[in-house]
Amino acid sequence: LKTDHVTPETAAGHAKVPTGPRPVGIGLVGAGYWGRNVARNFLDCGATELLWLCDLDESAAARLVGRRSEVRITSELDKMLADSEVEAVAVVTPPRTHLEVGMACLRAGKHVLMEKPLATSVAAAERLVATAAEMGLTLMCDHTFCYTPHVRRIRDLIHSGELGELQYIDSTRVNLGLVQSEVDVLWDLAPHDLSIMDFVLPPGLVPVQISALGADPINVGQWCLGHLTMPLSNGALAHVHVNWLSPTKIRQMVFAGSRRMVVWNDLVPGRRLTIFDAGIDVTHVEGDERARRMVGYRLGDSVTPAIPESEALAAVVAEFAASIREDRAPLTDGRSGLRLLRVLEAASMSRRGHGALVPLELDGRE
Ligand SMILES: NC(=O)c1ccc[n+]([C@@H]2O[C@H](COP(=O)([O-])OP(=O)(O)OC[C@H]3O[C@@H](n4cnc5c(N)ncnc54)[C@H](O)[C@@H]3O)[C@@H](O)[C@H]2O)c1
Repeated sequence: LKTDHVTPETAAGHAKVPTGPRPVGIGLVGAGYWGRNVARNFLDCGATELLWLCDLDESAAARLVGRRSEVRITSELDKMLADSEVEAVAVVTPPRTHLEVGMACLRAGKHVLMEKPLATSVAAAERLVATAAEMGLTLMCDHTFCYTPHVRRIRDLIHSGELGELQYIDSTRVNLGLVQSEVDVLWDLAPHDLSIMDFVLPPGLVPVQISALGADPINVGQWCLGHLTMPLSNGALAHVHVNWLSPTKIRQMVFAGSRRMVVWNDLVPGRRLTIFDAGIDVTHVEGDERARRMVGYRLGDSVTPAIPESEALAAVVAEFAASIREDRAPLTDGRSGLRLLRVLEAASMSRRGHGALVPLELDGRE
């Protein structure tokens, strides 16, 4: 659906068939760049009904919905929250507003879908998670990449044991990027890599330390490139390279296991994922005076699974609605957003210590 306006006509292109539970009444806060995509997906989803669009800039909201839309617009959050038809709110405003807007929604008894990052500090994220739990409400984070079919497949490969014991993760997310004024490159780009790692790692396997190094070669007052190194609890190593100053765009993650290795290159539609039957097997031969090592190189087939392309945000909004109706935690709940902030804050601490390893305590992964 390629349109700048969300109108009844565009929604009608994906006619809603009234089957299953009642659609979840949605209010959306934030009619900016990402809010436009979120609005389109709520309109297309049969399990949700977009009722309100709120933005401080009411004209931005009006432009987004178009003149003939039945979606109500307002610049006053309280007005939207007073509508009992609104069961849930998607917060798509800048990160510095997430705590205030999110708390207002939760206190009004609304389920919340919060954009990444959940908040700008661990303390703020803890308040959101605790309030949602106290109120018995769903708090979900839009960790969008976790809802791509490719990341879902990587998760299945790791969880089913097909990759074997995880040996390392190597992630590269670089391009000639938009130098941001509010956040550095770690806070801008690394949430994607870190939320994917959090999503695909099996229960009990977590990063236990983090070292962060970065640089600002163009003198903008914050890191424009950064490297995160994280030892995992099984002895494996994860590395993330994020960079706004790269002449080429690279979006690649490698997950190496003892049995298989998988490479996800997100810039090659139709062939994004390749699974390699490759690795090095080492056998220790005992009995000799000196223990000997036999090294065998495994270079088997590589497979590119046929994975249908689909929009991740469509799966995000469907999961939000399903978790509310089924009264269960969403796949990326508030606690996953909180863990992400613990890693980012520890990275900032390591940065102050010039890359020193900082311990991580990431409890609550199931
Ligand atoms: N999941 C993803 O892949 C992804 C991609 C892009 C952005 N995002 C996230 O989406 C959020 C918004 O980013 P964006 O690029 O759309 O920003 P944006 O600046 O384009 O839009 C933000 C909008 O929020 C409005 N706003 C600000 N404060 C408000 C408030 N208190 N109440 C109501 N409206 C308010 C602004 O007027 C603006 O229209 C951020 O948290 C960002 O990290 C996520």
